[in-house]
Amino acid sequence: MSETGQATVVEPFLPFAQPGIGQEEIDEVVDTLKSGWLTGGPKVKAFEEGIREVAGADYAVALSSCTAGMHLALLALDIGPGDEVITTPLTFAATVNVILHVGATPVLADVADDDHNIDLAQIEAKITSRTKAIMPMHYGGQPCQMDELLALARKHGLRIVEDAAHALGARYRGRPIGAISDASVFSFYPIKPITTGQGGMLTTNNQDLADRVRLLSLHGLSKNAWNRYSEKGSAEYQVLAPGFNYAMTDIQAAIGIHQVRKLASFQQRRAEIAGRYDALFAGLPEITRPFVRDDIEHAWHLYPIRLQLDRLRIGRDEFISELRERGIGTSVHFIPIHLHPYYREALNLGPGDFPIAERIYEGLISLPIYPRMEDSDVERVAAAVCEIAEAARR
Ligand SMILES: Cc1ncc(COP(=O)(O)O)c(C=O)c1O
Repeated sequence: MSETGQATVVEPFLPFAQPGIGQEEIDEVVDTLKSGWLTGGPKVKAFEEGIREVAGADYAVALSSCTAGMHLALLALDIGPGDEVITTPLTFAATVNVILHVGATPVLADVADDDHNIDLAQIEAKITSRTKAIMPMHYGGQPCQMDELLALARKHGLRIVEDAAHALGARYRGRPIGAISDASVFSFYPIKPITTGQGGMLTTNNQDLADRVRLLSLHGLSKNAWNRYSEKGSAEYQVLAPGFNYAMTDIQAAIGIHQVRKLASFQQRRAEIAGRYDALFAGLPEITRPFVRDDIEHAWHLYPIRLQLDRLRIGRDEFISELRERGIGTSVHFIPIHLHPYYREALNLGPGDFPIAERIYEGLISLPIYPRMEDSDVERVAAAVCEIAEAARR
């Protein structure tokens, strides 16, 4: 009860993200459990086919995570000690960790202020005789400028492995993300455009690369489970490389089969929410809305706003606390790589090295955007953002 004696309406907490799991996924998982094929079986094949189509690629390899896929892509491209790989500071740790895992050196190139994607001029300035590859990351689901990146890679003889963790369903100049460069790797972590709980998929048009990644994902064995344990299989195998145990299970794929069918409607709903936020923030000078290129189709994995801190009396963290007090979950994508203790020490980096990424980060807040949100949830988030910004206006 409030002081005036009226019941206070406490709205339920709105999480930053929630997966869109339906009865179909639940039934398919149960069917898988009853079938006896828990991994390396038919559901994995069917899910690979679903993603291969969406990505417009010739080959798709299902894996335990996007991280696993990026690790294997670098190995399959023979990137290792002595090599340098250029990537963005405004990404998740995994993008940089996989470069370290293969023994290569991550080299960061600052991002563009508008779309938060790696900046082409900054990449060019970082290329040396040791550079072997570029790992662009499609920030928030907005594709990088792939034609320019491909031209740069061609000019310097570099490979491209796309961290497409955010970008399933996105298009660049009409082409789906998934078969534009050497390899693209998607994530199915629960908050991603679609989920399998944990999981990832590598897509490519390069058969040798796909075969090598598959081999390395199954301990380097010459035969997978289907070829060893199915009716016509034989138990013999040879080890052709020291591989990893990075395969996706049929239980995960069972979820994915239905998720990928829902991708188009999920993506449409995400775009609708982004449009609604855009409209509701149009007259709010304290907020910069996400910039969207006109030659792409956005996956809208994230809706990141940027606070105009010079117009506000509070900082980003206080803004986030105020949203939490109003029952709204948010996130920040990302704390720039060079500000984390490990990379500062291992890569000899520190504050001031990537000023654009740092400036973006200082005002960055990812708002909830997912298909399960009701229109009223979207209005509630926007009203809270407007209220906090107006109250803290300078
Ligand atoms: C940009 C980016 N790359 C890679 C990953 C790692 O994906 P996964 O959890 O599937 O390994 C994530 C998030 O999880 C991410 O946001």
